[in-house]
Amino acid sequence: MAILITGGAGFIGSHTCIELLNEGYEIIVVDNFSNSKPESLKRVCEITGKSIMIYYLDLLDSESLEKVFLVNQIEAVIHFAGLKAVGESVKESLKYYKNNITTTIIICDLMQKYSVKKLVFSSSATVYGLPDTVPISEEFPLKALNPYGRTKLMVEEFLQDIFISDNEWSITILRYFNPIGAHESGLIGEDPSGTPNNLMPYITKVAVGQLKVLNIFGNGYSTKDGTGVRDYIHVVDLANGHVAALDKTLKSTGVNIYNLGTGIGYSVLEVVSAFESATGVKIPINITHPRPGDAAICYADPMKAEKELNWIAKKSIHDMCADSWRWQSRNPNGYKINEELENPRLIQSEDFLIPNN
Ligand code: UFG
Repeated sequence: MAILITGGAGFIGSHTCIELLNEGYEIIVVDNFSNSKPESLKRVCEITGKSIMIYYLDLLDSESLEKVFLVNQIEAVIHFAGLKAVGESVKESLKYYKNNITTTIIICDLMQKYSVKKLVFSSSATVYGLPDTVPISEEFPLKALNPYGRTKLMVEEFLQDIFISDNEWSITILRYFNPIGAHESGLIGEDPSGTPNNLMPYITKVAVGQLKVLNIFGNGYSTKDGTGVRDYIHVVDLANGHVAALDKTLKSTGVNIYNLGTGIGYSVLEVVSAFESATGVKIPINITHPRPGDAAICYADPMKAEKELNWIAKKSIHDMCADSWRWQSRNPNGYKINEELENPRLIQSEDFLIPNN
């Protein structure tokens, strides 16, 4: 029995593959590599010494996806695949609805058809909108402020309806705070295409000399130093949160929702200073206008995940900065490899497989 992982080549997906393989799970990855590279999965195999079955296909191609369900014994699905850039979601909203909502419906439909009713879904703290208070617990009111956020919220809502109509489902919804860091090997990490939107990849691109200065989006917020405060979580902690969530999903039924964060808020200036002290690299900064739609302060109450999943984030902001930098400094151009990938088709990419001993 295998765990099907959609979007397994991405930043969070690839780190989760490692932790699942280390726990002994057999995994099958489905990815269209629209915002990721097969190289990340090769490196996952290199790090773990284990093999992965990889299907290069688009989740909108339901016929090809059905073949994956037909030829494999799938026990559960972890659904990472999706588009995630807030600004792009405003400009190209239909693309976001089609990719994030239609694909999830297609997967759930196939899961229902093949009686694979165990799902872990990647949601986001974005569903809390601009929270009135912190720390944010799972019962806080939900409000999406852009198409990206609305796709996450809509999927959360229809997943609850799926369980209401069929109580055999077991669904775990994970609301991520701000994942940063990288695997300690320095072999895999975040590899955004183009200029990064998010803070840590922007800082590491400045540190490596590809961008000149970090623009800080406002220093007039009501926070400790005026800059925005967020709950940064090491991606390896986040990956382990998925293993804990999967274990529970496999053993139960129902819909469970968990925040995955540390419960600690750091300001932009604190992150810059932590990065400088962890790496010895100076980051030039420029204070600029606030970014529309940004919350002043956002951090999790992670107690529910601790109590029910027996999971807690362990890595410090120093670890997050040091590991982000190890990845970026050793891979200044990310995965860099431009494999000749043709139109989506069904492949069992034997060339990526490293056989088990
Ligand atoms: N920031 C800067 N300069 C930058 C980038 C970010 O000052 O170049 C600041 C932001 O204003 C914010 C903080 O750094 O205060 C973090 O910003 P990120 O873009 O890294 O993260 P966000 O909290 O804005 O966004 C993240 C995810 C989104 C998700 C959102 C809410 O990237 O997908 O959290 O959960 F929607």
